[in-house]
Amino acid sequence: MCGIVAYVGAQDAAPILLDGLARLEYRGYDSAGLAVVGKSNLRVCKKKGRIADLAAAVPARFRGTTGIGHTRWATHGEPNDANAHPHVSEAGRFAVVHNGIIENANDLRAKLAADGVTFTSETDSEVLVHLIAVQSAAGLSLEDAVRGALNQVVGTYGIAVVDAEQPGVVVVARNGSPVILGIGEKEMFAASDVAAVVRYTRQIVYLDDGELAVVRAGGFSTFTLDARAVTKQPSTAETAAADYDTAGHAHFLSKEIHEQPSAILRTLSGRLDERFSTAHLGGLNLTAREARDFKRVKVLGCGSAYYAGEIGAQLIEELARIPAHAEPASEFRYRNPVIESDTLYIAVSQSGETYDTLAAVHEINRKGGTTLGVVNTVGSTIARACSGGVYLHAGPEVSVTSTKSFTCTTVAFALIALHFGRVHDLSPADGRRVTSALRALPDKIERILEDEEHIAALAHEYAKHESLMFVGRVRGYPAAREGAQKLKELSYIHAEAYPASELKHGPLALIGPELPTVAVVPDDELLEKNLSTLGEIRARQGRVLMIGHTAPDPKLAQDVILVPRSEPELDPILLGIPMQIFAYHAALALGRDIDRPRNLAKSVTVE
Ligand code: G6P
Repeated sequence: MCGIVAYVGAQDAAPILLDGLARLEYRGYDSAGLAVVGKSNLRVCKKKGRIADLAAAVPARFRGTTGIGHTRWATHGEPNDANAHPHVSEAGRFAVVHNGIIENANDLRAKLAADGVTFTSETDSEVLVHLIAVQSAAGLSLEDAVRGALNQVVGTYGIAVVDAEQPGVVVVARNGSPVILGIGEKEMFAASDVAAVVRYTRQIVYLDDGELAVVRAGGFSTFTLDARAVTKQPSTAETAAADYDTAGHAHFLSKEIHEQPSAILRTLSGRLDERFSTAHLGGLNLTAREARDFKRVKVLGCGSAYYAGEIGAQLIEELARIPAHAEPASEFRYRNPVIESDTLYIAVSQSGETYDTLAAVHEINRKGGTTLGVVNTVGSTIARACSGGVYLHAGPEVSVTSTKSFTCTTVAFALIALHFGRVHDLSPADGRRVTSALRALPDKIERILEDEEHIAALAHEYAKHESLMFVGRVRGYPAAREGAQKLKELSYIHAEAYPASELKHGPLALIGPELPTVAVVPDDELLEKNLSTLGEIRARQGRVLMIGHTAPDPKLAQDVILVPRSEPELDPILLGIPMQIFAYHAALALGRDIDRPRNLAKSVTVE
């Protein structure tokens, strides 16, 4: 993944680049660096650690009005100063920042080394800068040298390049890793994400794969890699700079947990149809007849997007009675999947950039399948690769750990399930039951949020344990999986989720006073079964924290978090929220880095 940013204009580049990098830190944060073009020389500063460490290391006299910056998530070579970007050519003329993976880096490195090039890092990215220098030495312009280098490369990239001999120009290019341009007043920006530039401009140009742009203060020109000019229309970014502030919260995570009622309202906005008790989803691009023709649904995503997809698949199966199943996109894409014309494939992604999910979509498209996207980021690569879809409109999610986009994804699936249900056999009465339950969700979430103090106290208690078990049955199981995911990502406490029904087939051996269990127990038709699972855990002296609708016999659970009831099919949407708050406070109790957990990145744009 990694984040790149570039500036060319009249202002000092370094502070703008540092600010942009801070906004991209969610993409990776193990090392960072800057290069600015001064009066025909290149100044470079790079550092292991966070953007704040880099900012502290940038010398006062680091002047230049053209520059590039990078925040890294290590793939090739450990995080250290040498492996941090930008990478610089031997004579110090060119600097490159790169997001993505160069698959033939070893071959290119060997060839360049045989020609006498000395490498200073272990990264795959460094080959790019040397290739550009070689091309330039052969007499090519910067733009053509970049093109010549990229034509030798196999892999993915979003890059930005500066040349000490050409102050005032940045060349950027994209293949598989996002690059956007920001158009300012006599200044231009480029970045991996709108987040880096939205403080300065909301006029955005999205580069497509295989495109390159030559960017100057006064404007930009876009081309394909084989030098054909392309015309790009700017669009206005939906997000505003304020979306990237913590708005008085201690962390983005807390802000985003608390934003869920309003985020869900946006997901629902204009989509519920009272007259026919259904959902209108204009972006699906499917007629009722086409929607009826699908015999199966396959949902694909990674991490929390996959768990949200599991809830989504259950919703579709329950409400529309279409067999539906979720699978990690990262597995699906590697197993030569059978693609069927009567299966609907739904790709789930907050960022719309996750490489494994995108690769799954490409594979399905190539084999002639129909793909829909459930995506938060408007205009993102996955959204554009699908033939239709549903945007979450959750607003930018900055904290690496997904909360509001997870919940909004489950709500978007409820809309899809309702829509498909109503073109199949879901009765108008059941449709009404679901639409009114959806409308009631924001208030119910407010009520869960009011319980934060109680949940925080429990989290402090449970954070003393080294490991926690999470269990749930059918509707409760994906919610339990996501609960465990939240806890491990945020607090680094080991957490494992199991179907409650499977506990006695193995993991019960682990249960005892040292291993507490968080049990997701909605008051549905499986309540009695779930309560007997709690009995099995209590019989082994395991402590139980139950999340559900009614407090059980105190012998079955020492601790209880109560959640307002919804309609049974929609219960998983609400059951996950206390576990987000629980994980947040467990991580606070342990002093963890809340918005940037170790080793993770929000957007994984590499394989
Ligand atoms: C990374 C993040 C997860 C996220 C997953 C999918 O692994 O750390 O929090 O759920 O990517 O991201 P996406 O943007 O596709 O939803």
